[in-house]
Amino acid sequence: MKINFIDLQAQYKAYKEEIDKEVLEVMSSAQFIGGEKLKKLEDNLAIYTGAKHAIGCSSGTDALLLSLMALDIGAGDEVITTPFTFIATAEVIALLGAKSIFVDIEEDNYNIDPALIEAAITKNTKAIMPVSLYGQCADMDAINDIAVKYDTPVIEDACQSFGATYKGKKSCNLSTIGCTSFFPSKPLGAYGDGGAIFTSDDALAEKIRMLLNHGQNERYRHKYIGINGRLDAIQAAVLNVKLAYFHEEVTKREEIGARYSNLLSSTNVSTPKIDEHNTSVYAQYSVRAQNRETLAKHLQSKDIPTAVHYPMPLHLQEAFADLGYSLGDFPLSEKISQEIMSLPMSPFLKKEQQNFIVDAIKEIS
Ligand SMILES: Cc1ncc(COP(=O)(O)O)c(C=O)c1O
Repeated sequence: MKINFIDLQAQYKAYKEEIDKEVLEVMSSAQFIGGEKLKKLEDNLAIYTGAKHAIGCSSGTDALLLSLMALDIGAGDEVITTPFTFIATAEVIALLGAKSIFVDIEEDNYNIDPALIEAAITKNTKAIMPVSLYGQCADMDAINDIAVKYDTPVIEDACQSFGATYKGKKSCNLSTIGCTSFFPSKPLGAYGDGGAIFTSDDALAEKIRMLLNHGQNERYRHKYIGINGRLDAIQAAVLNVKLAYFHEEVTKREEIGARYSNLLSSTNVSTPKIDEHNTSVYAQYSVRAQNRETLAKHLQSKDIPTAVHYPMPLHLQEAFADLGYSLGDFPLSEKISQEIMSLPMSPFLKKEQQNFIVDAIKEIS
């Protein structure tokens, strides 16, 4: 049985006519950057999340970078974040000459542990950057409370959680700024790189719009040093089609996630725990297994692809050696990085495919 880790081909087949039409319209109009398609996308992203401003940009990484730039974060500043994430979260902090201050995660939801944040705050703390890992938000109320106490902005790295909810409110609209990614395999994926920044702060939104276009406030007048961080119209065209089906897809993701958890409940693998006040979009459906390597090999022998998000926490990465962390500093991040494994997941995963995966896991777990 052929199983893709994420079935983007089935998704394209389902929306092909509309996607082709939208993309061809961009080609005929020759409006490749900005324009109506981007405006429509931004309007609909704002409506979807409830944030006042949604700003399309070139990637999730650039969304995070632009957010830090908008908050004037640079040399000597500290940003509190989690070491159990994709490198981009902390990479952008380093790119601006600032320092990542890592805080360990909660064992149940793998997100930054709010109870540990306050001890990490110093006079140099300029932002807190929780990550909504695998499609489930961190405890944003607890984080925002600390942020208010220390007058610190919060940037949600929502690159995996667009569409998720926290206490009924949408991810990306839970803090000062939310950043998401439209990398093709994300829950809402483009056909290339893309991202978006969300905020309800007018001044920040205006600054971010300038920063992503070389700091320009009018043509060839540059108020800030910015970047080329624009989202192109072809990606906006694809995303407009997919956004219209997104609600349906999120429902399917939740059903498939719940079905996995139910079917795997009698095995030795631990299934994701979704906090009571959360819904997850399962950007990854990640289980924990003591025998991960054996299990992955067994699944591979049946052509079932798996992936590890992420095998090494950031504090142990060579690129962050200058931060001075060592093994043992963040025990939960270290432990979970040894056990975690993601299974095939997409709204187009069929029941028989899911049964095949679960049966294969049951053979050795
Ligand atoms: C948690 C997290 N942060 C940041 C990013 C970066 O997004 P992009 O690949 O669009 O630059 C990703 C995407 O892989 C991610 O998963």
